[in-house]
Amino acid sequence: AEPVAPDVEGCNKPTLPPGAKPIACCPPNFEKKESIDYIIPNYETLRIRKPAHDYDDLEKYKEAVKIMKSLPDDHPHSWTQQSRVHCAYCGNSYHQHGHTEVAMQVHNSWIFLPFHRWYLYFYERILGKLIDDPNFAIPFWNWDAPEGMEIPSIFTDKSSPLYNALRNHNHQPPTLINLNWNGADVDRSGDVGENLAIMYRQATSLSPYSSKTGSGSIELVPHNTVHDWIGDTTQPNFEDMGALYSAARDPIFYGHHANIDRMWSIWKSFGRNDITDPDYQNASYVFYDENENLVRVKNSDAFDTKKLGYDYKQLDLPWLDAKP
Ligand code: C2O
Repeated sequence: AEPVAPDVEGCNKPTLPPGAKPIACCPPNFEKKESIDYIIPNYETLRIRKPAHDYDDLEKYKEAVKIMKSLPDDHPHSWTQQSRVHCAYCGNSYHQHGHTEVAMQVHNSWIFLPFHRWYLYFYERILGKLIDDPNFAIPFWNWDAPEGMEIPSIFTDKSSPLYNALRNHNHQPPTLINLNWNGADVDRSGDVGENLAIMYRQATSLSPYSSKTGSGSIELVPHNTVHDWIGDTTQPNFEDMGALYSAARDPIFYGHHANIDRMWSIWKSFGRNDITDPDYQNASYVFYDENENLVRVKNSDAFDTKKLGYDYKQLDLPWLDAKP
């Protein structure tokens, strides 16, 4: 069945991995609310997302996340709810419209990129609303360039709301990331070149877009591998980042995904076209927006970041010259 709307009449308890503490993931008042079709505002100024290592809006970001974390758990804008959005869309909570037997799963799937684009879009809009700055833009963790190949310091300050304790203790800065991490730590000092070659392969020679039947290259590597590299190996499922249901509890999740989202924009700048299959174009999701409306959005409205009012700061792409 085509990946379309989660059936808004039903949001069930998530399927969690063994050892996970039981949690609820469905949005507050979901059953009682009718979703409305989202109308994208007319944005006059673009929000420019900048790299985490060179991010000048850190104080605003910290302030906004602090407010999110102080909201009651059942508030649609709370940090808990933001992370549960991910849990619900990856944990079989929803099923596909008209197909109660098919669970909605946004991973290993061709809806991976557009779903996460919308998810980050509302996350950013809500943060901007909380600090009353409609131009607020989140940072991206550009692990695809040497300056970004370790956990960015904005996420490692223990007194910051962007810190999270559940991360792999052996991967703290200045440990170089292994974009192809398979669970084993080896001595990789100096392997910037290997990371660049991985980026080249995943982003140019393979197909970054998923197909109807499975993941695109970028979802597998470095998307999944970076999740696993961050997750805390002392936790039953490498929580937080190493498990889908818990990943978005870690603020680094949104930095990681902003870079995945940026990769999508970069491929398009290479002349690639979005998938035209109507099943793909019309696939839709529901989110709470910054005004606490439950809104339905669709893939085809997510193809152009400028239409959504944001763009990425242009940076050099050192991996373009790293053909293995
Ligand atoms: Cu929805 Cu990085 O996973």
